[in-house]
Amino acid sequence: MSVDRSSTLPALTAEQAAHSARVVRALRAAIAAHSGWLPFDDYLRLVLYAPGLGYYSAGSAKFGTAGDFVTAPELSELFARCLAAQCAQILDSTGGEMVELGAGTGRLALGLLTRLAELGRTPARYGILEVSAELRERQQRTLQQLPAELRSRVHWLDALPPSPIAGVLLANEVADALPFRRFVVSAGDVYERGVALSEDGALIDADRPAATALASEVRRIAPQEWPAHYLSEVCPLMAPWIGALAAALARGALLLIDYGLPRHEYYHPQRDRGTLRCHFRQRAHEQPLLYPGVQDITAWVDFTRVAEGAVDAGLEVAGYCTQAAFLLATGIESEVAAAESVIARARAASEARALLLPGEMGENFKVMALTRGLDAPLRGFALQDLRRTL
Ligand SMILES: C[S@@+](CC[C@H](N)C(=O)[O-])C[C@H]1O[C@@H](n2cnc3c(N)ncnc32)[C@H](O)[C@@H]1O
Repeated sequence: MSVDRSSTLPALTAEQAAHSARVVRALRAAIAAHSGWLPFDDYLRLVLYAPGLGYYSAGSAKFGTAGDFVTAPELSELFARCLAAQCAQILDSTGGEMVELGAGTGRLALGLLTRLAELGRTPARYGILEVSAELRERQQRTLQQLPAELRSRVHWLDALPPSPIAGVLLANEVADALPFRRFVVSAGDVYERGVALSEDGALIDADRPAATALASEVRRIAPQEWPAHYLSEVCPLMAPWIGALAAALARGALLLIDYGLPRHEYYHPQRDRGTLRCHFRQRAHEQPLLYPGVQDITAWVDFTRVAEGAVDAGLEVAGYCTQAAFLLATGIESEVAAAESVIARARAASEARALLLPGEMGENFKVMALTRGLDAPLRGFALQDLRRTL
């Protein structure tokens, strides 16, 4: 996501305030039902995904300059065209189909299918697994733009395919949207940060001693020398999620693109406020209890955890590099040069800068390829190999 880091947040509209008040009422009930303390991952399940209430399930704009954040496929078609070059190489070897997780507005699917058709490498089927009913409708509207023959290959899934596929599984900015837990280490003791209510009914952070499983996980992953007060997060769902995706892949690759770090950088002693970010109207901030249901809440991805989950599930970590290195290796420069007019080229060059520059999306975003049964080196990782950092 690309956002301004300004600290001033726009006020809620009357409609947003009314929606958020409904979400707060549901949260109060959930907190009461959990004896006064809600783990942060349960808080996220409610504020992001509860039907009719959650940020992703209800109708807020979310994507694009009129929404809360801009993702790479929303920013530029160049992203889909480069990714298509990588998918084409994989499909050349496996044939078969593609499944996209969390397809947002459908822009990536639109760009990928269009470019794959130009390359003569259209997948037999293109499945979309989307948890948000509202976004599923938006995807259906976006993909109306495809020619009928291509559109007929697209279908929506309610779960991962029961029979493993040959081809490509793809998730851009989905791993960061999985519910995560928060922890605090203070004076060497591990606490879990959840959500409770103040005496006057406001949502507040509340820490309590971590259960044994979380405490030992934190000790496994985090630095030897703790700063005096260390706040971060961990995503226990990640390995099971990767395991489920691995089980759905008979042969081919799972491509994950997200902002994230290898573990030793993620849990660096100096990163003592974690990586949680909220996104509201193009502003990034760190107050997840503000505006429940009308702002996005994410955390960066611990790519070492992803790799561990993949290896446990029998996949090979075939590539890991920055988004910039991946896009350069998959031909972003020739895509810009091929723009049809001087004006189109200038626009494409400016979009490419946002996708490539270290201060924008180029370095914080990483691409990871997890494969089964593929021998040839993947094109997208030819310029950089960061696997040793995991
Ligand atoms: C930040 S958006 C990214 C959307 C899109 N991939 C893009 O790059 O523009 C996260 C997307 O993941 C979906 N999502 C979240 N958790 C999911 C899951 N477990 N399985 C499938 N989709 C999920 C959300 O509804 C949303 O479409």
